[in-house]
Parts: sequence; structure tokens; C-alpha cells
Amino acid sequence: MRLRHGVVELPQNDLRRSGSIDSCLGKTVPCSNRNTKVDQDTILKILKKVNYPGFSRDIVSFGLVKGVEINEGHVSVGLAVTTADKSIPEKLHAAIDQALKDAGFINAAISISVAAPKTPAPSIASGVAAHDPEHDALREVKHVIAVASGKGGVGKSTFAVNLACALAKSLATQGRVGRVGLLDCDIYGPSVPLMIGLQGRPEVDGDFLVPMENFGVKVMSMGFLVDEDTPVIWRGPMIMKTIQQFSTNVAWGNLDFLIVDLPPGTGDAQLSLVQTIPLRGAIVVTTPQRAAVSVARRGAMMFTKVNVPLLGIAENMSYLATPSGGRENIFGEGGGAEAAHDLNTELLGQLPLDPRVREGGDRGIPIVLSHPESISASVFTDIARRLIEKVASAPTALNSSAT
Ligand SMILES: Nc1ncnc2c1ncn2[C@@H]1O[C@H](COP(=O)(O)OP(=O)(O)OP(=O)(O)O)[C@@H](O)[C@H]1O
Ligand SMILES: [Mg+2]
Repeated sequence: MRLRHGVVELPQNDLRRSGSIDSCLGKTVPCSNRNTKVDQDTILKILKKVNYPGFSRDIVSFGLVKGVEINEGHVSVGLAVTTADKSIPEKLHAAIDQALKDAGFINAAISISVAAPKTPAPSIASGVAAHDPEHDALREVKHVIAVASGKGGVGKSTFAVNLACALAKSLATQGRVGRVGLLDCDIYGPSVPLMIGLQGRPEVDGDFLVPMENFGVKVMSMGFLVDEDTPVIWRGPMIMKTIQQFSTNVAWGNLDFLIVDLPPGTGDAQLSLVQTIPLRGAIVVTTPQRAAVSVARRGAMMFTKVNVPLLGIAENMSYLATPSGGRENIFGEGGGAEAAHDLNTELLGQLPLDPRVREGGDRGIPIVLSHPESISASVFTDIARRLIEKVASAPTALNSSAT
């Protein structure tokens, strides 16, 4: 399988005079500034203080700096960005200029080459991501929806698996069979294969991985590619590149929905993934305790940063149903509603703490299918129906050729 480049595919052309960042690093070019010797590392350190507008990540680690030249005390910096947002280069120019001035470098030459995303950026996306039309595995996917959380262990994968199955069931009743995909992006503990009863290795078709399928849901997971017993040791940049490549090289075919189970947390890997995939929206899973509100907010912030709409909050493990028909609020109550109110979105549903949910996950038969009459299954079904209604009325985020 040939994996294609990640999201920020940067043109090199008009930065040739500056040389690549690799050739800059470590190479000392003496020059004088306030009678001190500076080299490119010094300048890169300064540039590392400049974040990409709206992000907590700096332009150097984003790989946007393509060249640094120091000539007789005169500093030239070259950047290449891929964005449809005209304000980005202006903001970058001002921030870099300020950072250099603060460090004593006045009148630095800053050149920023701007490339438009290769396919029209979806209106809801920030435009940072670029898609290669020839290799765009998502071109026939109507709605990509991320399932995220601010922290791990809240039932995100359980939610993603059951939601995908509930969507597949609902769509099948409309004659739309095989129109749901599930992408498990958790590289550390991919649990989706177990939860949806799949194992083995996916086939490879040319440049693409062919998703495996169960319960009418097409599934791709790192769990199919990495041996269970092999410890997965990744370094930061490696994680991002791998997830980006992995997530964009799957032959999904024609889908109405692709549910993406994001890795837990809100770090760089998640952020970069959110930029890679043109998302129609995101659902944040949370637990009912009030303390979880700030965690949910953190999860949601990641999407607002890149203009991905929040479709709602799903509260999991909301209560335990007692034999007498009551509800025991083991983990507190109100967190989901408060988070939804806070984030100006809706509470999509409250899923009870149900041992059959866990059993279903362990057995590979999601509760939506094993106990369709259960309250849990009906909440998932209701969320799936509302999601179908919600996005059906809105324009598709992706290639309009998807039918
Ligand atoms: N509503 C529920 N009732 C009972 N058990 C549940 C419920 N939701 C999730 N679980 C169980 O809780 C555990 C954690 O769930 P899950 O793996 O889906 O969480 P996660 O947020 O994806 O975790 P991670 O951050 O590790 O990816 C699993 O054993 C799952 O079966
Ligand atoms: Mg998970």
C-alpha cells in the first residue's frame, strides 16, 4: 500500500531559494545581530513561539516553515501554507514579524506562499486541510461524523459502534444498505474490532485498504493492522502522519455516514486528524457528573477551532435502572444537559449504565442488535434517526457527487 502524504501538503516551488527546513536545521550561518552570532536554529526557536492562528501548535512543528536565511544580519523567513482563509497569511505575517522584532530582528523579510486546498474546502471546514482528488477515499462519503470526548473511558467507542449499527439498521429500512462506515482512529487501544465482532486483516486494493464488514457496517481499525500483543510505540509526529495516512487510504465507496471514533483526548494527534478529514460535525460523549462539563467543553473546543459544527452531546452511563423501575444516579446527574447548554447544542440522549452494553462490547454484538427492545437500544436508535433527519436537511459537506 502506498500511503499518501498527510493533510498539510505544502508546495515547495517558490521557496527554493530558502532551502528546506531540514537543510537549515543544525547548519550554522554566522551573522551579526546586536553583535551576537545567530544561526538558523536561533531563528527557528523564535518561530516556534508563533502559533498557527486559532491553534495551540506552532508553525515550525506544523511543518510550515520552509526556509530560513541569514545574510549579513538580514533574516529571511519562508513559509508555505495551504488555506482558503485569506486572513491566515496576514495573521501569520504579523505574528512572525512581531516575534522577530521582540528578539531584536528588525526588518526581517517574510515570504508566505499560499496554496488553496486542492479540492474546494467544505464550507464547514477551516480550509487548512487539503484533499487529493485522485486519492480522495472520502469523495463518495456524504457525512463524516466524529465521535469525541475530552477524556478517555467515557464510552466513546461503545457509542460509536452502537450508533453506526443503529444508523445502518435505520437506513436499511429505507433501502439504503451498506451505507455506513466506522473508522477507529484509536491507535493505542483500538477496541472497535472486538466490539463489532471483527478480526483478521483487511485486503489491500491498489493504494487502498478494503474495509471489513459486520452488521451492515464497513469497518476500518488500526486494530486490524497492529498485532494485539505488539506494544505500539509512537512518537508524536509519527502518530499524526500515520493516522492521517491511515484514515485517508480506505476504500469506503458510497456511504451516507462515516462515524469516526477519535483517539481519546484533545492533543495534537486529535487536532490534526480533525483537520485531515472533512467533518460534517461532531458528537461529544460525556458522563453525567458535573465535573465532566469542563472536560466535554475541552473536547468540543477542538471542533470549534476548526469550524466543525457540534451536533450534540451524548451522555453515557447516565443512571442505573433499578428493578423497581427507578433510576440511580451513580455518577451524578445533569452533566450532559449542562454541557449541551454551555456549548449551545442539544443533548442527544442519555444512555443508562447497562451491563448488557458492556457484555455486548465484549461479545462483539452491540446492544442495538443483541437487545433491540432495551432502553439503551432505543436511545441509540432515536439518536440515529435524529442524526439522519438533522443532516438530511443540510447540504453535504463533501463532494456533491455523492448520492
Ligand atoms: N452505558 C454503558 N453501560 C455499561 N458499560 C458501558 C457503557 N458504556 C461503556 N461501557 C463500558 O465501559 C468501558 C469503556 O467503554 P469504551 O471502551 O467504549 O470507552 P472509550 O471512551 O472508548 O475508552 P477509551 O478512551 O479507552 O477509548 C467498556 O468496557 C464498555 O463496555
Ligand atoms: Mg475507545
